[in-house]
Amino acid sequence: MFRSNTCGELRLADAGKHVTLAGWVQRTRRMGGMTFMDLRDRYGITQVVFNDADNADLNEAAGRLGREFVVQITGTVAERSSKNEHLPTGDIEIIADNLTVLNASEVPPFTIEDNTDGGDDLRMKYRYLDLRRGAVRSNLELRHRMTMEVRRYLDSKGFLEIETPMLVGSTPEGARDFVVPSRMNPGQFYALPQSPQTLKQLLMVSGMDRYFQIVKCFRDEDLRADRQPEFTQIDCEMSFVEQNDIIELFEGMAKHLFKELRGVELTEPFQRMPWADAMKYYGSDKPDLRFGMEFVELMDVLKGHGFSVFDNAEYIGGICAKGAAKYTRKQLDALTEFVKRPQIGAKGMVYARVGEDGSVKSSVDKFYTQEVLLQLKQAMNAEPGDLILILSGDDAMRTRKQLCELRLEMGNQLGLRDKNKFACLWVVDFPMFEWSDEEQRLMAMHHPFTHPKDEDIPMLDTDPAAVRADAYDMVVNGVEVGGGSIRIHDSALQAKMFEILGFTPEKAAEQFGFLMNAFKYGAPPHGGLAYGLDRWVSLFAGLDSIRDCIAFPKNNSGRDVMLDAPAALDQKQLDELQIKLDMREKE
Ligand code: AMO
Repeated sequence: MFRSNTCGELRLADAGKHVTLAGWVQRTRRMGGMTFMDLRDRYGITQVVFNDADNADLNEAAGRLGREFVVQITGTVAERSSKNEHLPTGDIEIIADNLTVLNASEVPPFTIEDNTDGGDDLRMKYRYLDLRRGAVRSNLELRHRMTMEVRRYLDSKGFLEIETPMLVGSTPEGARDFVVPSRMNPGQFYALPQSPQTLKQLLMVSGMDRYFQIVKCFRDEDLRADRQPEFTQIDCEMSFVEQNDIIELFEGMAKHLFKELRGVELTEPFQRMPWADAMKYYGSDKPDLRFGMEFVELMDVLKGHGFSVFDNAEYIGGICAKGAAKYTRKQLDALTEFVKRPQIGAKGMVYARVGEDGSVKSSVDKFYTQEVLLQLKQAMNAEPGDLILILSGDDAMRTRKQLCELRLEMGNQLGLRDKNKFACLWVVDFPMFEWSDEEQRLMAMHHPFTHPKDEDIPMLDTDPAAVRADAYDMVVNGVEVGGGSIRIHDSALQAKMFEILGFTPEKAAEQFGFLMNAFKYGAPPHGGLAYGLDRWVSLFAGLDSIRDCIAFPKNNSGRDVMLDAPAALDQKQLDELQIKLDMREKE
């Protein structure tokens, strides 16, 4: 028997038991004639004591153990004289009577404790050691429990878990594909799926009725804290449903996860906000509703008073930060610098403080009478002690996005973005298309299979940019945790959609012929959604990046520094694939 108990298991009630434990040496301390060892495994840490008085040789051997040695000990559980209330096993220790070294360890490159001295790169290179740390391991445990709950919930609603292939064809919409060459079909490439979108729709044509899959998806896009090149979706599709059926079922799943994994009971229905309102009041399609600070449009109040920046602006918007009139000049200058950063790109920021006497003092006082400033205060619904921050610009959408960044920054500075508070909403009625400057054409905002709102279908011919879709995203604390839509199930409407997206009928047939063909054989009305598993776990674990809930993540340049991937191929492999490299210098 390797062990009778784990390192997280023994309590005061076990005192007197003779036990065998196995694990890693977290550290040893010598004190007088004794050696104290913290023995660690997945389940916890138990203190083991070696004593000269009992067995000097054993104590000597324990003193020679290095960090991360793998050992087995036997001994007797005893009550500790000085208890450690921070450890579940902190009331007891094991008085050792035997020690076996199962494997030695080199000195690890960083200390394997919750507060490690290992920087990001080092921890990623030795990720298998990083995963020994309780903080990282608990994220994986949470991830496991989440997938178990997801399966339980979806099974109870009649969903079938069905796998779809990883080697599929490239699709032109959306992000860039990761491609895989085919040896047996020289010059041809598979693509790794960006999502199983078309396949799950085909499963609906097959009559599977309710499908789900916890599935890896691959997208070659620029990385951010909430984006990895390979990530996991909880991907779902249902037949014979309307938007409301899907929203209700998956809101139910969100509530189930909150209750089971966070102990949070969400009883109210989630707010549903049209996309146009989200953009108007928050400048974002994923507003963080943990706090207010909605945008107020100020064109009527502030234009036409001789301040040329505002007079020439297409959009002027303000936010009101409660109780922030106490901000110093230095803090306000720092905020101005914040919005002027290239990533945000505002030209400047105007502020107005509401004094305790109700009067308003602004950074552009010379252009505005107190009367106008009081109108501003009223428009902003500001009270004594509040701070009004204003941005303007000649492109309304761009300025709103800048104001969105400022709002989030103020939320951070004022401590309004508490990680233990959750604000969930559905953003609905997305536009069907968005204009792409790069491609100089309309692109599908979600994907080309999204159903337009019935009442907007006539506008497909006259004003496609104004058409709204039966598409919805779930947003929690400003993070898009999922999204989906009702799909087109009619091949004629699907063909029209491809036409608007600039596909010739031949190109549409080449890329999506399989789907349009399938729709000829009795496709049921259907729709679905995909949740981002990594984002849900990191939200529940309070992480800043989804990397910390992925066992082996990629870094910001898309590299796995541990496996050293991606890497060049052998010439032999290239020859087999009939691939010749043409490495041009980057211009
Ligand atoms: P979408 O592209 O919105 O929809 O993706 C669904 C959800 O997946 C998560 N997600 C990501 N998570 C981590 N890293 C990424 N690079 C990444 N990209 C997306 C997000 C997102 O909300 N086929 C459709 C779904 C459908 O219509 O049913 C789709 O893929 O949480």
